[in-house]
Amino acid sequence: MEELLLALATGLWVMFTAFVAGPGAVLLGGGPPIDGGRVGSNGQRLLGAGKTWRGLLAGIVAALLVGCLQLLALGATQAPLLSDFGFASVGLGFMGILLLLGVGSMAGDVLKSYIKRRLGRPRGAPLPLADQLDFLLGAWLLLALGAPWFLVGVIGWQHAVMLLLFTPGLHRLTNILGYLLGRKQEPW
Ligand code: CTP
Ligand code: MG
Repeated sequence: MEELLLALATGLWVMFTAFVAGPGAVLLGGGPPIDGGRVGSNGQRLLGAGKTWRGLLAGIVAALLVGCLQLLALGATQAPLLSDFGFASVGLGFMGILLLLGVGSMAGDVLKSYIKRRLGRPRGAPLPLADQLDFLLGAWLLLALGAPWFLVGVIGWQHAVMLLLFTPGLHRLTNILGYLLGRKQEPW
């Protein structure tokens, strides 16, 4: 039990930047939509009015900022851990990882909206599991392409399984919060 909780906590810590991007977009998004208002052949928007340039940028910047704070905390307390992964100090290598996490998270969100629209679901309509896991899978996909060593060596399957199991619940909780704060139109 303790081991499982530790795996979850470690997984959340390592993937935290990816978790921050979406809420960053919700809090700071709005304005011109990424799809420029274009509509697909099924009459639905390409992405919808809920996917904006400002939200995309805000999500990535929020992820980078929070990730830098995490790296500062790590650098101060766990320098040996960094050298285990072949880094002398917190540096550019880790900034690249943060970028992959933030961009991957937002790309997963955008891709999910594209799929929803092609399935004929309007903005805000739920698509269970995809709504909850889009950002995590997007971040892992970019890591797999850009830094597979991080995915295999740092995240590993135990953390990945715990995250897959617990993220839907966590996501739901934060969305209820966003809804209560009036930042989200639906509590999912
Ligand atoms: N948001 C944004 N830009 C993004 C992502 C999100 O501006 N790239 C903001 C929008 O105001 C959006 C809100 O965050 O309405 C909630 O995001 P999300 O639930 O992902 O979008 P939905 O509006 O529910 O649309 P979809 O059905 O496409 O998920
Ligand atoms: Mg939504």
